[in-house]
Amino acid sequence: MSLQRVRSHSTSKFLKAIISKVFTIYSELEKLTGIPETMLWTLHNRANEAMRSDGVIQDPKAIEIYEAIQYDYERSRSVTKGQSFGKADPVHALRSIAFDSEIRVFMKKYPSGVVVNLGEGLETQRFRLADLQTTWYTIDLPESIRAREHFISPGDRWKHISCSALDYAWIDQIPTDRPVCITAQGLLMYFQESEVQDLLKTLAERHPILTIIFDVIPNWLAQKTLSSDGLKMSRDYVTPVMPWGINRKEIPSFIEKTMGQNFDVTDIGFPRYPLAIRSFLFWVWFNVPVLKQLAPTIVKVER
Ligand SMILES: C[S@@+](CC[C@H](N)C(=O)[O-])C[C@H]1O[C@@H](n2cnc3c(N)ncnc32)[C@H](O)[C@@H]1O
Repeated sequence: MSLQRVRSHSTSKFLKAIISKVFTIYSELEKLTGIPETMLWTLHNRANEAMRSDGVIQDPKAIEIYEAIQYDYERSRSVTKGQSFGKADPVHALRSIAFDSEIRVFMKKYPSGVVVNLGEGLETQRFRLADLQTTWYTIDLPESIRAREHFISPGDRWKHISCSALDYAWIDQIPTDRPVCITAQGLLMYFQESEVQDLLKTLAERHPILTIIFDVIPNWLAQKTLSSDGLKMSRDYVTPVMPWGINRKEIPSFIEKTMGQNFDVTDIGFPRYPLAIRSFLFWVWFNVPVLKQLAPTIVKVER
């Protein structure tokens, strides 16, 4: 075979391999529904915020993944298929930067600590915190880990465990002789209250030096997702049901009842919203005492 033919043969093989990979990724992501699909919703919001010159988050990896996925996030191309998350919103970027900063606090306090991220989806936190010398465990459902691994590879310090957070097989793989920081960002609201209690109790019994960071939604919002209309985020997107809601003032007693008395509980809240009019409305919601009780928040529990 001439050199030219060899070259054109390998170029066409290369192109076929790329087309086949893109098709596989596309069809796998298209198949995501329910809670696993929500990882595309948070990616949509986070990557768009990272693309803004005045965005609250810097996240080149999220942009890279976002741009590589041929997914109709805003349903601009099709009106017959798939769901749409509507226009991007900074809320998930704000949540991510709050979690980033709490993980940094934990690692500063416990340099030998490990981080366990439950329901990590396509979150790119480990890239934003690349300077931290820690072992990082990602626990997610098998279909979500498959989607993640198209873009983010596991490694010696980056372990992926395909497993429900409610199937405690993953717990045996986390060292008990090192401080542990468990994060659940956008996850616990999708569980039943009894499942959340059982998970928190199990972790409290297992790890002597433990920090858990998670976000919660208030009761009224959980009820809205359970109503017949559900929680509509855009013309086409109704979120999956979120059965577990808790109002802010009930959090300390819930933790004491579930995990025992020797934990400190901090209601972290959300960082300030950046856009002008929304910023004001969110400020009112998150700061006026009566309304504040009815807002989502981020919680840190530590011992
Ligand atoms: C709203 S997304 C959040 C993803 C990521 N934490 C973020 O903030 O971008 C919810 C994630 O929880 C995962 N998930 C749903 N049920 C789960 C379960 N039982 N155990 C572990 N992960 C679960 C989904 O696969 C998805 O990745």
